[in-house]
Amino acid sequence: MNEVSVSAPGKFVILGEHAVVYGKPAIALAIDRRFNMKVKKDAVFKINNDTADIKTVPHIRYISGKNGMLPVSVQMDSKIPTGSGLGSSAALSVAFSAAMRSITDRPLNEAEIAEEAFEAEYFAQGRGSPMDTSTSTHGYGIALNAQKNEEDRLWNITKNEHVWNISHIDVPEMTFVIGYTGIRASTGPLVEKVRKYKDRNRFAADIVDEIGQITLEGMNAIRKNDVAALGELMTKDHKLLSILGVSSKELNKLVNASLPYAYGAKLTGAGGGGSMVVLTDDPDKACSAISSHGGVPFVVKTGVEGVKVIEESE
Ligand code: PMV
Repeated sequence: MNEVSVSAPGKFVILGEHAVVYGKPAIALAIDRRFNMKVKKDAVFKINNDTADIKTVPHIRYISGKNGMLPVSVQMDSKIPTGSGLGSSAALSVAFSAAMRSITDRPLNEAEIAEEAFEAEYFAQGRGSPMDTSTSTHGYGIALNAQKNEEDRLWNITKNEHVWNISHIDVPEMTFVIGYTGIRASTGPLVEKVRKYKDRNRFAADIVDEIGQITLEGMNAIRKNDVAALGELMTKDHKLLSILGVSSKELNKLVNASLPYAYGAKLTGAGGGGSMVVLTDDPDKACSAISSHGGVPFVVKTGVEGVKVIEESE
């Protein structure tokens, strides 16, 4: 194949971010905001039509290295705001991994794409979990270290001393509103902040364990379609993440403003800025509460496909 167009979804985390880095359970859903990418064989590397030093884009550098540094031209068009906690860099890595497979005529093996994209993220950030990359690869919903049904098992990913068992989950129809603070936050330093806190302080390590516990309760709430219980767990999780120091005054403001119209609300992703998510059956009121408190709201559609090839040409 000479040229391919691919698309990979962003995600949000219902429960378990940060704790998942230490192998605790987490639940994430793919959303209808996608990273679209066109990749074409070329004489030299190009990104968005400019000759590019790919070393400046570490995710692309890593995946290219795994593909013999075959020079390609990459056009990117993302509907996932960067640094928003919605998995834009994971979707980039997943899309590029799938595109390189397609133009080198290899099958789109989801487990291999999820693993390669995770390694690319790890190379770029020096830390993290395979949650975002697995969600973007598979789509729909995934549970990490929280699913007992063997038939839902997708793949396992291991790094250093941690193992993540990744499974598909069916999430009943629910309405989620995202509130973006407009503040870009880098995931790496926030993950590092939690790691240092946890390593120094038994109390922080207990909070990480408690987030894992809440996530398992959240799995039960999802299985029973108990929206009220799930919402309460989300709000509780937000409080625990705040204690770990990854919320911000803007995120707290959006969470508090939306709670009167919600089953629950919490920051989603790395925090620091980025986005929060609201579980509600009154999306209009949740959206107005978010916009009148300085956030950018949008209702997300879930149950969307993972990475896919849109078009290929010889
Ligand atoms: O903010 P995002 O979309 O990069 O999500 C980060 C989620 C963390 O749990 C904080 C880190 C990780 O790699 O799992």
